[in-house]
Amino acid sequence: MAKARHSYVCQNCGAVYPRWTGKCDACGGWNTISEEQTAQAAVPSAQRTSRKGRVIKLETLQGGGAEAPRIGTGIAEFDRVVGGGFVPGSVVLIGGDPGIGKSTLLIEAAAKLALRGKRAIYVSGEEAIAQVRMRAGRLGLADAPVELMAETNVEDVLATLKADQPPVLVVVDSIQTMWTETQESAPGTVTQVRSATQLLLRFAKTTGACIVLIGHVTKDGQIAGPRVVEHMVDAVLSFEGEGGHAFRILRALKNRFGPTDEIGVFEMTGGGLKEVANPSELFLSERDLGSPGTAVFAGIEGSRPLLVEIQALAAPTTLGTPRRAVVGWDPNRLSMILAVLEARCGVRLSGHDVYLNVAGGLRIVEPAADLAVAAALVSALTGTPLPADAVYFGEVSLSGAIRAVPQAAARLKEAGKLGFTRAVVPDSGRGTASEGLQVVAIGSLASVVADLAARAPRPRRSVAGGAEDG
Ligand code: TYD
Ligand code: MG
Repeated sequence: MAKARHSYVCQNCGAVYPRWTGKCDACGGWNTISEEQTAQAAVPSAQRTSRKGRVIKLETLQGGGAEAPRIGTGIAEFDRVVGGGFVPGSVVLIGGDPGIGKSTLLIEAAAKLALRGKRAIYVSGEEAIAQVRMRAGRLGLADAPVELMAETNVEDVLATLKADQPPVLVVVDSIQTMWTETQESAPGTVTQVRSATQLLLRFAKTTGACIVLIGHVTKDGQIAGPRVVEHMVDAVLSFEGEGGHAFRILRALKNRFGPTDEIGVFEMTGGGLKEVANPSELFLSERDLGSPGTAVFAGIEGSRPLLVEIQALAAPTTLGTPRRAVVGWDPNRLSMILAVLEARCGVRLSGHDVYLNVAGGLRIVEPAADLAVAAALVSALTGTPLPADAVYFGEVSLSGAIRAVPQAAARLKEAGKLGFTRAVVPDSGRGTASEGLQVVAIGSLASVVADLAARAPRPRRSVAGGAEDG
């Protein structure tokens, strides 16, 4: 019998150490290392015979025909994010905070497929059959012919899947609960998660079934443990939402068969997740009209324009290092905008705490939001509301110039559609015709600041020189 060998594996990144340490040198995590039996020790040495390799027929890049047929779930927001439907034989990992709605989304997807006559199997490792049924009942999907099993042993799951005609979709909820007999480690450890994924992956590739693995997310947003799984699967999606908001955003972080910048927007209601076909309307539905510090940004998420409100607050502070707090945007980018405002436009915010929020719990990554952020900040500092019917977009360079951004026409079209009448855009957008929309092209951030200062409610109050000195 092979002597059991033990090693110490970081549960966050999968790095292996010969002895226990408090900190993982690979990912910097503290207290993430735990003892596991090594993979080699679990394979009987007799099986590791030296056999001659088999000669494999080499192929060309040609052939294979057209694009792989996609299997759409019928949930348009979901299908868009995976690149137009599932690719047969692919494995998708979907991560998200507990309670965000992963199980709800996937039971809906499975039910929609099953209702269209495709075999869909839901493997629940977390909930009992009765609980899954209860949720389906609440979603009005009790009649969908989804096949359920509450099981955590991968060998049993695979034997069941192989016993009948291959399924089109298998949902595994969650990958952290799955365990295989070939490993001695506890379920949820890196070794188990990796081995279970490997077995499921092999099943998907050989049968052409699509497998969706649900994964948990740790406090800092990593898909727990299986960073190691992320590179094995074909796509990694993240299901996000701010606590207290009903909006849920499905985002692709990696996709071998599609774009990674698409988002799907959902709203969690009493009857499950509703697709939001026009997110701009939703994100602007609770606007504070006429109050200073808010600007509407005309953004693009993937192929879709998305209008969203940026909120800023500048509060005088006595702290030596004023606070800068950001929700939904890059804090480093905020620091940059503040520096440009100070150095190029004479707007001093060093005596103010600055808070920035993207309404609705959305997270923006586009630099095109710079101009809207800067406008919201100056508006907040001067107490001057921006025109309620204006949208902003443009990248701010370190020189204070406003740079062109892609897809200006699509942004303008969306703004016009939602009833905005004015758009403040980079110089390159000059002459862009847009129905019912006055396009104001500007070359530098200083001109936006000057325009706001001119419209400030208290005349003669200067934005420059840090107003609240005395
Ligand atoms: P769930 O799908 O169980 O989340 P996860 O699998 O990501 O942990 O969703 C649970 C939450 O969703 C729960 O807090 C209640 C809420 N919810 C609704 O608001 N409406 C519904 O119809 C359902 C099924 C859940
Ligand atoms: Mg769940």
